[in-house]
Amino acid sequence: MLSENMQKALNNQIRMEAESSQIYLAMASWAEIKGFEGIAAFMFKQSDEERLHMLKLLKYVNQRGGEAVVSALDEPRLDYTSFRTLFRQLYEHEVKVSASINDLVDIALSGKDYATHNFLQWYVSEQIEEEATAKVILDKIDLIGDDKGGLYMFDNDMKNFTANGHNIVQ
Ligand code: FEO
Repeated sequence: MLSENMQKALNNQIRMEAESSQIYLAMASWAEIKGFEGIAAFMFKQSDEERLHMLKLLKYVNQRGGEAVVSALDEPRLDYTSFRTLFRQLYEHEVKVSASINDLVDIALSGKDYATHNFLQWYVSEQIEEEATAKVILDKIDLIGDDKGGLYMFDNDMKNFTANGHNIVQ
């Protein structure tokens, strides 16, 4: 059985993952409109992954005798002035998610909830990957800057990475 405290924190995370999915979806739609198919495909896929992160938490809360909450979400507020600002926001968002997962781990440990602690390890690993991916993309974008040819090539790279199921970090 989950403690009140743990349940509340997990429900907050459910909301955060759902909002992450919306953020990636908004970015995907923007990239698609702008004609960057590769970036859009990558973002659509990430959006789906965030939804799975949300679902996994929701099912866990219910499985442990708690009640998962499907709450209203904040509209993604993104600055689309450049790819650089967009990807910086993405990276900063993932850093925020990692901090939130770490807080959950703290709550689980301090409440001696070892089952939830164990469950959360998947998210700890996932965040290492998500942060690394966001950082690699950000570094690439920093190199390219606003160079149109560079962005075109980058978009192609993203298309191949997404189509082949490869992680861009590899
Ligand atoms: Fe599920 Fe990207 O955090």
